[in-house]
Amino acid sequence: MGKVIKSMKPDLSSVFIINLPKIEDVRGNLSFLEDGEHIPFEIKRTYWIYDVPGGQIRGGHAFKVQKELIIALSGSFDVIVDDGQEKKTFSLNRSYYGLYVPPTLWREMVNFSTNSLALVVSSTSYSEEDYIREYQDFKKIKEYE
Ligand code: TYD
Repeated sequence: MGKVIKSMKPDLSSVFIINLPKIEDVRGNLSFLEDGEHIPFEIKRTYWIYDVPGGQIRGGHAFKVQKELIIALSGSFDVIVDDGQEKKTFSLNRSYYGLYVPPTLWREMVNFSTNSLALVVSSTSYSEEDYIREYQDFKKIKEYE
């Protein structure tokens, strides 16, 4: 009888929200993250998305290698993650939530609130080569995983 081989490539079960430390203080709260301690990769780059006009969508693509943590530093937005089989929506609305997204998953950022600020902590330097920008290409890659 043939063995059922489960794909080792990321699916939705490998996407999760990390509760980052929150130091409460009457002077205001403080959160932080360190690679190796709170997130499962070494940090190579951070970027942030802001001044998003109402109704706009960011980040409609997948990465071949990049691992990332997405944080709503201010305001709120939703991240829709798609593994080629199913989609799941994660609502980010606390500055101590970090959404971990491994590579080869399609993800979109939607429903940005006014003045929201999205921070993305990345495991790689910027490389256009790492992007899968066409959904059809993404679907093909997922079929052959
Ligand atoms: P892109 O990642 O396509 O934005 P989104 O995540 O919303 O899809 O990036 C938009 C543009 O910014 C694109 O031309 C590449 C450029 N860019 C950099 O030069 N460096 C970076 O670190 C990032 C994230 C983007």
